Amino acid sequence: MSDSTVAIRKLKGGMVGMGMIFDETYRPFFENAYQEGIYDPRTGVIKLEIAAVASRTGGRAARYKDAAGNQINDFASYIEPDSIGQLLNHDVDFVCVATPDDRHYEATMAAIDAGKHVIIEKPSVLSMQQLDSVIAAARNKQVLCKVVYHKLFDPDHKKLRTFVADNILQHINTGYCTLLEPKQISGSQFAEWIQGRNPGTYVAVHYIKLIDFTFGGKLKSISCSGQRGIVGEADGHTWDSTQLRLVYGYESGREAAFDIHTSWVTPDNFPGYVEQEVQFRFDNGIWNGHSRKRGVECTVEEKTPLSIKNSMNNHYNGTFMEPDGRRTQRGYGIEVLEEFAREVAYVEHGTDDRSRDERIDQLSAGFYNDIASDRQTVAAVQAMEAILDQHVSGHPDCVVRVNESGGGLVLYIPGQAEGIVLYKHQV
Ligand SMILES: NC(=O)c1ccc[n+]([C@@H]2O[C@H](COP(=O)([O-])OP(=O)(O)OC[C@H]3O[C@@H](n4cnc5c(N)ncnc54)[C@H](O)[C@@H]3O)[C@@H](O)[C@H]2O)c1
Repeated sequence: MSDSTVAIRKLKGGMVGMGMIFDETYRPFFENAYQEGIYDPRTGVIKLEIAAVASRTGGRAARYKDAAGNQINDFASYIEPDSIGQLLNHDVDFVCVATPDDRHYEATMAAIDAGKHVIIEKPSVLSMQQLDSVIAAARNKQVLCKVVYHKLFDPDHKKLRTFVADNILQHINTGYCTLLEPKQISGSQFAEWIQGRNPGTYVAVHYIKLIDFTFGGKLKSISCSGQRGIVGEADGHTWDSTQLRLVYGYESGREAAFDIHTSWVTPDNFPGYVEQEVQFRFDNGIWNGHSRKRGVECTVEEKTPLSIKNSMNNHYNGTFMEPDGRRTQRGYGIEVLEEFAREVAYVEHGTDDRSRDERIDQLSAGFYNDIASDRQTVAAVQAMEAILDQHVSGHPDCVVRVNESGGGLVLYIPGQAEGIVLYKHQV
């Protein structure tokens, strides 16, 4: 090949779930990639298409196809029953799983079983048992299986991690984080699957991951309280808000505690799309971050704070007019998906001397977004859900201890000496 020849390779993606997150991040990712391709020095230019989608009813997929016009290629749309099985018969290189979180496992296992690379929305799966099966299946089939945590790509969080890695901020002591979603999420957007669910699994998991990834350490215990009565019954199994506490231990022999407060019942006329704030305290410093108040406050008569919010996160995912006049949609929520596409492209079309298996190994165990990197995050989610379930059955204030001699996750009910083993292997 001469220097002036550019090799153009192709990738085809499949999408499972066409809901809110599809519209926010996957849609612009697929549209940008379709129109402009993606580039990686290890592969050259990659042309990328969305080949097929799967959803419950196909309604949103049809509306999207109509609205998008020539912004996107034509694609097949499959609906239940067995929408995923039908999608997997299609010629796709990778599958994006963005169904409600308690339906990730089945879709992921089916995609891996069909030999496809997979990227799963957070939280990857809801138990360590499921996680073990997914890891084993991905290794067995030699495919990439990755999890999306876009907060790791937020420039503010990258700076925090850089300060920690460079020992500028020394030894984490404590932290608190909050992420509050509007009522429209629990009241209408998620009405189909909200029964029995909680906002902790849905959004605290962003901060569980950020804490786990940024500060390292070993998870030692999990506790959680919560409130009910707005989304569901006051004594029911659907939660309005949760307060999760994680305790971590570090090589120094010292501990840190983190509190993560979440809800999905914030008034819809709140001035931002969501509220997101963190504070982390160190031996020698303090980090205060606010993802919503990064400097912009905008008021528009008859629009703010409902159709446009007063404060906006233009870093996550924004629609812009570029200086040259082009209309774009960009941000770290989309960047994280482009990175995954580059990884798949490298595995399938890399131009270096490595074999496909070597490339898979390089991007799997030990790599930041590999499914196996999610162990402590999934452990925290499994423990939190078990604690909330116990609360519903009349046992509030339980605690789950991690990696005891009796098991990897052991739940203790107040007043009962014997623990319940949720997961027997080490986390
Ligand atoms: N990264 C983020 O910030 C972020 C934000 C929102 C949601 N999410 C995650 O994305 C996932 C989906 O959330 P959402 O907000 O898009 O939900 P949603 O309710 O808006 O959409 C869910 C979609 O899944 C489809 N679906 C449901 N069951 C299915 C099945 N059995 N087979 C095929 N399709 C099925 C529905 O038809 C719908 O298209 C969740 O895991 C959530 O945690 C991530």
